[in-house]
Amino acid sequence: MAETFEAILKRRTIRKYKKDEVPTEKIKKTLEAANWAPSNGNSQPWEFIVTKGEYVDKVCNIFYNWAKDYIPNAPYIPTEKKAGMLEYAKDFGGAPNHIIVTYEVYDDEIKTEESLMAASAAIQNLTLSAYEEGLGTVWIAGHVAHEEETRKTLNIPENRKIAGIIPIGYPDMDPPAPPRVDPELKEKVKWLGY
Ligand SMILES: Cc1cc2nc3c(=O)[nH]c(=O)nc-3n(C[C@H](O)[C@H](O)[C@H](O)COP(=O)(O)O)c2cc1C
Repeated sequence: MAETFEAILKRRTIRKYKKDEVPTEKIKKTLEAANWAPSNGNSQPWEFIVTKGEYVDKVCNIFYNWAKDYIPNAPYIPTEKKAGMLEYAKDFGGAPNHIIVTYEVYDDEIKTEESLMAASAAIQNLTLSAYEEGLGTVWIAGHVAHEEETRKTLNIPENRKIAGIIPIGYPDMDPPAPPRVDPELKEKVKWLGY
């Protein structure tokens, strides 16, 4: 249990990767961890697409084509950060593989929401397990995850959506932990009936 807590604290979002190939066995381990996440009614609504090579490049290109116009014009991004962000947008830091996690979409809005929650739990299991395997990850869920072109490129059916695109590989950085907004949980927790 101490190891789980340590992994939770030490896992970091990695935005620069070594080119080294990731052994398939390690990727399978992270997928197994993801597959053991809790889910609504044990529906296990997640599915995974593991990509490398041209599929990694295609998804990166979809993101970059959007980001190259968006980032320079985004007023909330500090000017000095824009060049670095654009560079990162080219290939998500050079991860050799992506794991795309999709969830099922239902007619029932609540069921769909719970499906996304379950897929998110799977992603967290995956990222923690990757950390234990010596691998880095980043959870990408912005524009590129919602883009129709991404769906078509990855052959994702109409009844599924992307919960996260997870670049995965050996880290080529050791970033400091971004501070928590309320590390001592003075504001974020209400204890009722105590
Ligand atoms: C739902 C979600 C979406 C995210 N989207 C992105 C993203 O598009 N690009 C990115 O670089 N990081 C993304 N992140 C990573 C966060 O920026 C990161 O988790 C946060 O800064 C805290 O850093 P840490 O993971 O090292 O604790 C996302 C994380 C989550 C949970």
